[in-house]
Amino acid sequence: MAKAPVRVAVTGAAGQISYSLLFRIASGEMLGKDQPVILQLLEITPALEALKGVAMELEDCAFPLVQGVVQSDDPNVAFKDADYCLLVGARPRGPGMERKDLLAANAAIFSVQGKAINDHASRDVKVLVVGNPANTNALIAYRNAPDLKPGQFTAMTRLDHNRAIAQLAEKTGTHSTDVEGMIIWGNHSATQYPDVHHTTVAGKKATDLVEQDWLTSTFIPNVQQRGAAIIKARGLSSAASAANAAIEHMRDWALGTNGKIVSMGIHSDGSYGIAEGLIYSFPVTCENGQYTIVQGLDVNDFSRDLMSKTEKELGEERDGVAHLLP
Ligand code: NAD
Ligand code: LMR
Repeated sequence: MAKAPVRVAVTGAAGQISYSLLFRIASGEMLGKDQPVILQLLEITPALEALKGVAMELEDCAFPLVQGVVQSDDPNVAFKDADYCLLVGARPRGPGMERKDLLAANAAIFSVQGKAINDHASRDVKVLVVGNPANTNALIAYRNAPDLKPGQFTAMTRLDHNRAIAQLAEKTGTHSTDVEGMIIWGNHSATQYPDVHHTTVAGKKATDLVEQDWLTSTFIPNVQQRGAAIIKARGLSSAASAANAAIEHMRDWALGTNGKIVSMGIHSDGSYGIAEGLIYSFPVTCENGQYTIVQGLDVNDFSRDLMSKTEKELGEERDGVAHLLP
């Protein structure tokens, strides 16, 4: 018997990430080729005309899985009964900016949307925040959604995770599929800590294959600065790779990772000594629609120092938006 459709809300639906994202959701790459979807697209009023064009293109694909497309500038409409919310709509940074410079422009969006999700979405909704600064925006959203569990709100560090895998595969002359157990700790920012201490490459320990000096002076800064490098090269921030990461984050959360470790920005429960309540990227596995933090990993002094630096930044970002946290 055919599955009942699920409702997928996407904000910033006329923006550049969404232009790569929507068509992949519609073709079943996120929730499965047998899962019909109703797309609920949110934009600001001046972008509704552009959104109409995107909706026309969706229509022109005649996707078998699409059971409806809602277009709105009202979060209360776009999040109504939503099972999945991808919060993409926010200003992107330009050259010379850090992601946290966007807090002033973007934070208020996520208090409004957190409230609307609280009041209108499915009680089992899964929320992914992509709009930057993603971790703190996710924190603002869950704090404004008191009737839902904080664990239902996540932030995207999957792009960093994938970038780190690609860099390590290139360095070791292997394929990205040979790399397992990559971890991004902390913030989706220049303080994030890409950690290879638990990573294997074709079954060998990554730390036996690369020098510590390469990790410190090349790998870690390259992953931390990859977003800025894309902006410099393209004149615009990453879009297709961000959409790809969003698809993988939601797919893995909903459908499971089969034991594979991935990185997700999630509500900290105090694991690894990270302050409870921050949205911090941890290594997780997913099964039956739930994520579980991978426990018991050894953390050496080098890692602890970097994990604490990114935790400190997240605490500062949280304190900077105290006025939006009920
Ligand atoms: P974009 O400017 O092309 O699109 C953003 C869209 O959001 C615009 O169409 C705009 O009208 C819309 N929007 C603005 N405020 C809104 C609101 N309140 N409600 C609904 N829609 C709204 O930007 P983009 O390149 O698609 O990037 C979107 C965000 O994603 C940026 O903040 C960017 O920094 C971030 N991003 C995050 C990651 C990550 O890894 N977490 C990766 C890439 C980009
Ligand atoms: C990225 O990592 O590519 C995005 O967060 C965009 C940015 O501002 O770097």
